[in-house]
Amino acid sequence: MNPELLRRYLGYYQDLGFRHLYRRNQNRGAGALARGGPPGPPQPDFLPVPPAAGSPELLATIREDIGDCRRCRLHEGRAKIVFGSGNQQARLVFVGEGPGADEDEQGLPFVGRAGQLLTQMIEGTARKEGIPIQRKDVYICNVVKCRPPGNRTPLPDEMEICGQFLVRQLLAIRPKAICLLGATAVKALLLDRKEGVTKLRGNWYRWRDIPVMVTYHPSYLLRPYNQSAKREAWEDLKKVLHYVYD
Ligand code: URA
Repeated sequence: MNPELLRRYLGYYQDLGFRHLYRRNQNRGAGALARGGPPGPPQPDFLPVPPAAGSPELLATIREDIGDCRRCRLHEGRAKIVFGSGNQQARLVFVGEGPGADEDEQGLPFVGRAGQLLTQMIEGTARKEGIPIQRKDVYICNVVKCRPPGNRTPLPDEMEICGQFLVRQLLAIRPKAICLLGATAVKALLLDRKEGVTKLRGNWYRWRDIPVMVTYHPSYLLRPYNQSAKREAWEDLKKVLHYVYD
């Protein structure tokens, strides 16, 4: 491989969050890029080919690369991979944690109770604020694409392995803003933030050069004692929608 191409490949893998590349099998394409190095996190069985310079990747290519994924233990209990849904050129992307039972069954993100609340929040706020958008106009996805057993929080290695696909989705869509729903999404994208969602919510941060708003996860808002959090989440959403669509 020529040095320029090698630089492009390595830059791309760095973008996806890989910190160590080690040679598992000399004859395995890009996986054979680097020799040795300290033991890093588990790596996928292949490394994706970077998109041509200056042209964003298609979501369909990313979904194809995921394939019938068995890169981590979450595949064992899943019915369907939940890749994401909505407008592929959305100006706003919502990132949740991982599929629940309804999402696992349907293969679509946020279609259960939390999803219905998210839809109401998006469409209700947009209507009240005079912003002509519906759920189908935004893009919605999760940090992990397979349902964790018993809806537990995804483990660090699961987030690491699946996180590369989230990064690729965001780089492919290049939205005007990203809205992170809850602590797992914050952990995945705002790596240097140690504060909890209660502290972070309502404020703007950056992922790469894209503005990021943090708010509560809709499942948290469904709990009956969280009425004030609900009001706050509506305020957060208002801020995001005006920023993106005004
Ligand atoms: N919770 C999430 O984080 N994502 C979904 O898709 C559904 C519920």
